[in-house]
Amino acid sequence: MTERQLDAFVKRLTLKEKASLMSGRDFWQTKPLPDKGVWPLRLSDGPHGLRKEDLKNAKENGGHSVKATCFPTAAALACSWDEELAEQVGAAIAEECRSHGVGVLLGPGVNIKRSPLGGRNFEYFSEDPLAAGKMGAAMIRGIQKRGVGASLKHFAVNNQETLRMTISAEVDERALREIYLKPFEIAVKEGKPATVMCSYNRINGVYASQNKMLLTDILRREWGFEGLVMSDWGAVDDRAAGVAAGLDLEMPYSGGATDEDVVRAVQEGRLSEQALDAAVKNVLRLVAAYAHKPRTPYHQAAHRSLAEKACEKSAVLLKNDGILPLEKQSNLAVIGALAAGTGRYQGGGSSVVNAHAPMGFTGAMAQRGWAYINYAPGYRTEHTRPDAELEEQAVRYARTAQTVVYFMGLTDLYESEGFDRTHMRLPENQTHLLEKLAEANPNLVVVLAGGSPMEVPWLDQVRAVLYTVLGGEGLGEATYRLLFGEACPSGKLSETWPLRLEDNPSARYFPMGPRVVTYNESIYVGYRYYDKAGQAVRFPFGYGLSYTRFVYRDLHVDTGKNGELLVKVRLANVGDRAGDEIVQIYAGCPHSSVHRPVRVLVGFARVSLKPGEERQVEISVPRDRLAFYDPVQHRFVVEAGQYEICAGASSRDLPLRKAVLVSGEAVMPLYAQSADGPYGAFSDNRFSDAAFYGVHSRPPQNNALPHPGEYDRNTPLRQMNESKLARMLASAARVMTRKTLHFSPHAQVNQKVAHAMVGDLPFRNIQRNAWFLLNVKQAGRVLDLCNRPNKK
Ligand code: BGC
Repeated sequence: MTERQLDAFVKRLTLKEKASLMSGRDFWQTKPLPDKGVWPLRLSDGPHGLRKEDLKNAKENGGHSVKATCFPTAAALACSWDEELAEQVGAAIAEECRSHGVGVLLGPGVNIKRSPLGGRNFEYFSEDPLAAGKMGAAMIRGIQKRGVGASLKHFAVNNQETLRMTISAEVDERALREIYLKPFEIAVKEGKPATVMCSYNRINGVYASQNKMLLTDILRREWGFEGLVMSDWGAVDDRAAGVAAGLDLEMPYSGGATDEDVVRAVQEGRLSEQALDAAVKNVLRLVAAYAHKPRTPYHQAAHRSLAEKACEKSAVLLKNDGILPLEKQSNLAVIGALAAGTGRYQGGGSSVVNAHAPMGFTGAMAQRGWAYINYAPGYRTEHTRPDAELEEQAVRYARTAQTVVYFMGLTDLYESEGFDRTHMRLPENQTHLLEKLAEANPNLVVVLAGGSPMEVPWLDQVRAVLYTVLGGEGLGEATYRLLFGEACPSGKLSETWPLRLEDNPSARYFPMGPRVVTYNESIYVGYRYYDKAGQAVRFPFGYGLSYTRFVYRDLHVDTGKNGELLVKVRLANVGDRAGDEIVQIYAGCPHSSVHRPVRVLVGFARVSLKPGEERQVEISVPRDRLAFYDPVQHRFVVEAGQYEICAGASSRDLPLRKAVLVSGEAVMPLYAQSADGPYGAFSDNRFSDAAFYGVHSRPPQNNALPHPGEYDRNTPLRQMNESKLARMLASAARVMTRKTLHFSPHAQVNQKVAHAMVGDLPFRNIQRNAWFLLNVKQAGRVLDLCNRPNKK
């Protein structure tokens, strides 16, 4: 359809038809207009594999969605630092979408990992905006080159699960631009996603779904986004305000009441029909581009080997005193329940893939022909209490083995959409057993799974640690290849591992609530904080070991045609194995007049070298990577002056450094943003409210728990606890949610998620989710009743 035909088409639609086209038909499709030739468009999760719900065939499928390939989660893939790989994975997922008639994949997610506790960190790439943005953009390119639309999510500032549907993330403008919006900016500009999904939360008081500054001023006007904006599922508060702000599609179907709101808003002159038409056109363009495409089969075996390869390239060797790679010895003890069955390969939530054939390490051993596997589970995964009998058996195996490989990790109970972690420790039964294994056998190797950093105080007691993150269904085979040296570990961390949770910059300000969470640490997220505070960390950002050795030499920095820096470095593989190195370039501005991180990542490249091979690696650094965001001028500024360009193997291993003069602007910051201001120097993570409100443009907000009389449509159910009626509603909602929620194969986990999610559900969503039981008026009356003081 040409634009002119589209205009003519929209003109012929009634107001009601238009409003209705802009909300879902059901949970997963847009509305068709059969007599007008508009097909429904199917959307499915994402992000690391296809989750097309198929409740009817749950038995046959062995899960609540169609079988699909589970690729490494974003947290894992990010550790490959391999944009080409991310593109290949995106393309493979899109091929699976094409075979199932799915037009838009709900992913990737590029939110910043503000705290290691974030429940959905495994679905996100990094604590660094460049790393997250680049990997996200690559994945989008891959998805879309197979004719499937991507949905970049969750726009924006979704950094916690606690109260995710109502919390206001109070974040200062500079942090918003430099940290939280930056990955979206990169992914939008370089990936050109067909759609963007807004987040649930508020940003500085305004819901993402009705945030004009985000959805229109920044996304469309500044970044040139031309696609469609959809809501996260149930994220709409005031739909008419949303349309006016730039929201095109409400998902999922919510009973039609919000369509009526839109019609009324136009009739009453509160919403322009022009805004409505623009949104309808975005929906129709998307449907025309991605709906009703021929279904094409995909090559399952090829996707499986890509999943294995991707896992292999993403795993990070955290420690090795030379014990790895292992020889194929018969006297090997494999301990830990996470070694067997499927292994720990993905997190819980809407991203759960019903994987074709997930296989843990013992499965891979059997497949490789190991006749006898000395395996003991050692602990249970459904709870965290040590089990004396299991431990005894494991220790017995360990005592007589030459080497012990112990599989540890966060279980389903720890990591899922819907709730955050409350601490950074591993399950107690696993660490309890570790002590005993270390006593029984000094040759202890740990294979660690989990989508986020963990506290590892036992590190000195083990000889090696291989971190497989949440590596997808190829986990077992990839682990096998890496442990036995058929492949060389090459992943590097995309997130800093602090020594302990309390060291993290957001530790005092996460997840806060009940109404707001303040981002007191401003731009000092991840290594930006640790480096400036001079804080020791367990493993730095960008860190990872290898079985071979790389040497960096001869750093040169030239200026390219567009003012970009051309950074050249010679890299040599001086070990005796082929391997990949992730070359990282950081830039600092030591004499900046504004407060800044010591240095930030400005470029990276994954390079493969044979033993003895040497190569010149060239990385182009566009000028804007040196910029800071000036909240007075509301724009990014490159300050003139001397910058230090560093090259090396991690954020804390930068052997090559060069000072370069960069032309730019003279800058005279306000005190709060200056190098001498409160953020200019610090040695711990106490960022006072005085400092924060010096850089934040909003005054402190009401952050008190509401009481009866103060409940409104946006009050989460858990905060209406004083009302007996609200408690009853919450129980009913929990029962319903438990029945319909399939966020994990384990009932216990679904129960935990349902409990957390219902507690965080704003009152308005009770009506939206149960529109067939309760109309808007009735819901209003129920809210009035909840607001009455309880009779004593
Ligand atoms: C999640 C989204 C997801 C959607 C559909 C929401 O709860 O936040 O990431 O795409 O559900 O399942």
